[in-house]
Amino acid sequence: MSAETLTVVDNRTGQEYELPIVDGTIHATDLRKISAADGDGGLMSYDPAYLNTSSCRSAVTYIDGDKGILRYRGYPIEQIAESATFLETAYLLLEGELPTASQLEQWENEVRLHTYVHTNVTKFLEGFRYDAHPMGMLLGAVGALSTFYPDAKNIADPESRHLQRVRLIAKIPTIAAFIFRHSRGLPYVFPRNDLDYIGNFVDMTFEIGGKHEPNPVLQRALEILLILHADHEQNCSASAVRSVGSSQVDPFSAISAGIAALYGPLHGGANEAVLKMLDEIGDVKNIPAFIESVKAGHGRLMGFGHRVYKSYDPRAKLIKTVADQVFEQTGLNPKLEIALELERIALEDDYFVSRKLYPNVDFYSGLIYQAMGYPTDYFTVLFAMGRLPGWIAQWEEMLNDPEQKISRPRQTYIGYDERAFVPMAKR
Ligand code: CMC
Repeated sequence: MSAETLTVVDNRTGQEYELPIVDGTIHATDLRKISAADGDGGLMSYDPAYLNTSSCRSAVTYIDGDKGILRYRGYPIEQIAESATFLETAYLLLEGELPTASQLEQWENEVRLHTYVHTNVTKFLEGFRYDAHPMGMLLGAVGALSTFYPDAKNIADPESRHLQRVRLIAKIPTIAAFIFRHSRGLPYVFPRNDLDYIGNFVDMTFEIGGKHEPNPVLQRALEILLILHADHEQNCSASAVRSVGSSQVDPFSAISAGIAALYGPLHGGANEAVLKMLDEIGDVKNIPAFIESVKAGHGRLMGFGHRVYKSYDPRAKLIKTVADQVFEQTGLNPKLEIALELERIALEDDYFVSRKLYPNVDFYSGLIYQAMGYPTDYFTVLFAMGRLPGWIAQWEEMLNDPEQKISRPRQTYIGYDERAFVPMAKR
């Protein structure tokens, strides 16, 4: 059997080194042994944006980007989306196993008991301007939760961590719904614990004067979208949660860092950006000119491309089915025609084909959220609600991993060598 090692020859010195290979990786710190001169600190690997660096060992989510595979704790996303509820999926991500009927019931009850937020949270939200971006409000409000629950600092205590999990999963839909109503100048609707997780959220957002008629097809569609977003291994926001959490800050602060990362247009903010792009294109006849401008480097085709998926994003496939079910209820979103035609042209165009750029999860999700009645700047809040169990699972896995320490990358310094300070008069 061949040795699980890598032999490296340093041509600067002629020295040969043997580095162990574990799970298809070499340890970057083993490179330190490779040194050309005393005191040079040894070799480092240079990997801006972590294109080829594994930052942790994780058992939460598996992705094979070439084959378009996504699994939570080993279960294919297609089967979870078909059969599980969102809280069941959250339990799976957090506990590592599917719940039994009684475990699920207990979990649902725990969450139900924590859906209310302190009255001061509502006052805090009232302080935001009427046109504040919902993601800015969400990240501020979730960060502020750490001040309501100082006990959350006990991150080494599994019982305390469990309580914070429950608080986060239970309260974020309430805060998200209050944010929705704040933007519309509507009074907040408080949680109804006779409803299920999704039903309660929809009620808190859309209820007006006892007139809201729940639509089970739309509620299940929303639930599936949240499930599809529930985790995606070491993406930008999960890495932010891990990195910030590695300083041993409380989970509310760490999760608010994830929300900040998700806000950006290259990550969760892409669903909002897709809708803006479709608005700008305006008509199918303008698509060829738009595609040419993207190819010429003027902006990106939002909702296309992914760091890991180099084939069709499996979530995007599932979302197309959800879209059909939703549009059957709500009528077609007029922008769907533009999106379908954009996709058709892009999938035939050599620019996109050669770069393996396919629709990602955000390409169609915004169209569905819009048909459900959510405004464009609210889409990423729904993504955050979905991603929450993943962030918490990644955070706890990081805390329990004995190999993890405070996150602290190295750098390759390219600035000036030492130079003498120049007094103001001589500059
Ligand atoms: N439109 C046009 N060209 C693109 C696009 C796009 N959407 N995405 C990548 N490219 C080009 C890019 O210009 C580059 O071309 P070249 O080799 O000629 O310089 C090549 O494809 C590789 O791109 P990259 O920027 O090196 O790829 P990345 O892995 O760093 O970026 C990405 C991944 C998702 C940030 C990027 O594809 C993108 O900006 N997509 C649009 C935003 C988007 O939809 N984001 C949502 C991602 S999925 C949900 C989530 O994670 O939140």
